[in-house]
Amino acid sequence: MNRSTKGTGDGRRSRPVAHELARYEGLFAARTRGMKSSAMREMMALTERPDVISLAGGLPDTSTFPPELYAKLMSQVAAESTARALQYGPTEGMAVTVECIVEVMEEEGTTVDPAEVIVTTGGQQVIDLVCKTLIDPGDVIVAEAPTYPGAVPTFSAYQADVVQIEMDSDGMPIDELESTLDRLAAEGRRPKFIYTIPNFQNPAGVTMSLARRRRLVEVARERELLVLEDNPYGLLRYEGEPLPTLYSLDASAVGRGGASDLVIYLGTFSKILSPGLRLGWAVAPRPVLEKLNLGKQGADLCSSPVTQLFVSAYFKDADWRGYIERLRQLYRRRRDVMLSSLEEHFGGRATWTKPQGGLFIWATLDGGVDTTDLLAHSEGVAFVPGRAAYMDGRGASSMRLNFAGSPDEDIREGIRRIGRTMGGQAGLIGVLMGSPPAPPDSSAAAKDVSETAAEQAPDEAPAPGMADVVELPRRGGQGPADRRSAGERQDR
Ligand SMILES: Cc1ncc(COP(=O)(O)O)c(C=O)c1O
Repeated sequence: MNRSTKGTGDGRRSRPVAHELARYEGLFAARTRGMKSSAMREMMALTERPDVISLAGGLPDTSTFPPELYAKLMSQVAAESTARALQYGPTEGMAVTVECIVEVMEEEGTTVDPAEVIVTTGGQQVIDLVCKTLIDPGDVIVAEAPTYPGAVPTFSAYQADVVQIEMDSDGMPIDELESTLDRLAAEGRRPKFIYTIPNFQNPAGVTMSLARRRRLVEVARERELLVLEDNPYGLLRYEGEPLPTLYSLDASAVGRGGASDLVIYLGTFSKILSPGLRLGWAVAPRPVLEKLNLGKQGADLCSSPVTQLFVSAYFKDADWRGYIERLRQLYRRRRDVMLSSLEEHFGGRATWTKPQGGLFIWATLDGGVDTTDLLAHSEGVAFVPGRAAYMDGRGASSMRLNFAGSPDEDIREGIRRIGRTMGGQAGLIGVLMGSPPAPPDSSAAAKDVSETAAEQAPDEAPAPGMADVVELPRRGGQGPADRRSAGERQDR
């Protein structure tokens, strides 16, 4: 892949210096105090540099899309729909695009009513609109630990109190969820929604089992709780049987006409077609949908008609299922390349997940190596440090590695370089702690943590009795995130 084409960060703006910030300090809204930069946005600027191998970002490989098809579809839109493409569109999205969304969801075995769909500017906007619609400062969101790093700044900006539940190889343990809900209920707190990425989770790469999906829907129904099901990767499965969406499970529980009344579903064209289109969608119960629509009116009026018409032309004229199959084959191979490189260069010094699909592997390093420091010394290789996936700064020894967006040789070289830097870091820590580090080329096989629940746990244990729960520090409070140094915060 041509690295110079990757990413959207312009990397042009430098950070404001202290005296510049002081001038504006009194003007900023209180909510900005909780705002953090997305680790991915920071990464985007870095990955623009042609000398950097990026295993960061959530980038699919857009160089796989045939240029002649892109040119043909764009000219078609330009020639046949000039006025529509250049005009505002309806806030809920164009009917021709919603038809494509219904087809994609059908492919995942989920039937939806087009009237319950809203087209959004990427799936990211769904997270933002759901928070805008449901979250007052201090409201509780229950999320997985680790969680999608791109949701962290959104939850922070809305001043949510995020309770994270540690996952194992089958995703979020629902008995842990239930005891967390009981504890919250005893405190008189009811979460506004449960946020989950059931398929090939970003960043952990694990998938929620069928039994847990069924139980999660039951729990949501028993307690009348909304679930935000974030599913960008469901169609990118490389092995194993596809599992039903939470939306479809809830819809069958409701039993009338196939519409869920508790699950808000988030989908996107970003990973199955292109993130540059900036098109995603939500399927939601009507009253919620109406509020999302109002929120979107205030945010951007409508998503781009140019790209909505592009999607419609693509679905009409091209083999979209065939393209996804090509992506599956490519990403499956790259996943395997990364897994064998990890075995070779991290073996005996780390554990990692073995995802059945999606874009990411989550690796956790032994020996107290901090991946934020590692990133600073990682010889031109970018990855997302694990802290970005926790609200409270845990995850310091973990890292998210994207295997889908880079060619095989970059994956091998990237992992080799990180492995080498890791050796140096562990060596330094060993010297400081007075214990010799594991040899960098240790032949001991790394354990496959996808089989082992406990090993998905974060590196630093939280307070006793709260081992599975992390709370977002309150705005202006003295929580762990507030106590972190400025240097640490830079990596979010
Ligand atoms: C879990 C998850 N949700 C939402 C998004 C947002 O994607 P987009 O806004 O490109 O649709 C991503 C992107 O990486 C993601 O991984």
